[in-house]
Amino acid sequence: MINDKKVLYSGMQATGNLTLGNYLGALKNWLTLNEEYECFWGVMDLHSLTVRQVPSEFRKNARNLLILYIAAGLDPKKNCIYFQSHVSAHAELAWLLNCFTYVGELNRMTQYKEKAAKHADNVNAGLFTYPVLMAADILLYQADYVPVGKDQKQHLEITRDIAERFNAIYGDVFTIPEPYFGKGGTKIMSLQNPEQKMSKSDENVNGSIYLMDDPDTILRKCKRAVTDSGSEVCYREDKPGVSNLLEIYASCAGKSIEEAEKEFAGVGYGEFKTAVAEAVIAVLKPLQDECSRLQKEKDYIDALIKENDEKAAYFANKTLRKAKKKLGLTEVR
Ligand code: TYM
Repeated sequence: MINDKKVLYSGMQATGNLTLGNYLGALKNWLTLNEEYECFWGVMDLHSLTVRQVPSEFRKNARNLLILYIAAGLDPKKNCIYFQSHVSAHAELAWLLNCFTYVGELNRMTQYKEKAAKHADNVNAGLFTYPVLMAADILLYQADYVPVGKDQKQHLEITRDIAERFNAIYGDVFTIPEPYFGKGGTKIMSLQNPEQKMSKSDENVNGSIYLMDDPDTILRKCKRAVTDSGSEVCYREDKPGVSNLLEIYASCAGKSIEEAEKEFAGVGYGEFKTAVAEAVIAVLKPLQDECSRLQKEKDYIDALIKENDEKAAYFANKTLRKAKKKLGLTEVR
């Protein structure tokens, strides 16, 4: 608890080209929670290093991600919005937790297996221990809840296992976090292959709607989305493409799936896809405009970064000191 409020922690990788999946699965839900909880939202730039980055672009992308959080509506005076790499406690606790994590556990992580297969030429140790750094992120802030999309479920489970293992030996050091999944949009699928999640690393750019796509591109991608040979707009297991579009529509328009199904009863796929695109544009256009505005407010953003880095470091170092002491590491004099 901080200020009598439960603590919430989440973040996104600071890699370019965030998708509508990131927005609907994560950021949009964060907005509904940020008043009620004490929130920490990290720009996960250390995690991004498991894939080679071009330094100049990386720097820009990371800053733009921080701006995106604010543009989406997270109040940087009430929420702690900061860069993971600015708080060295993350890397330090990750090392300590590495010593409490088994190779067998990490070998079972599906995201590791998928990414290792995709980047066979760069299966680095960071990719393997990625979940341990994620556990450190969460545990440093004694988070009660972690709002994420369904693809992060396994990473949350290993975080809990590591924390429970540590606590069983050293007493109550870490709060055991619970995952928090939103009502809708927790797994947005690719528009071109609805069996696969919409992902920023998808090679087929038509499969993903990027947050910075212009209205024409969004319309074109929605029109091209894979559906099926039927004609009924309904949410059914054997209609993954249409179901995914309904999910996107409902989530963007703030409606339930049932309401959306009723609205499109008897409507053809062409008209339905246009409506989906319009609902997406109505969400993304204001977000893009606000990002452009804030990108120009250099001093304002720089001041926020400084303030929030310090706040994050204060809480993170408190937990790190506690863990180090319990482990028997000698104190700094
Ligand atoms: P990342 O950057 O891959 O994704 C950020 C958030 O977006 C969600 N998401 C999706 N939700 C629904 N449908 C999709 N297609 C979709 N794609 C992505 C993810 O579930 C996530 O919530 N490991 C994390 C970053 C991270 C983190 C943390 C998260 C590092 N440390 C500590 C929470 C707590 C990641 O790669 O997310």
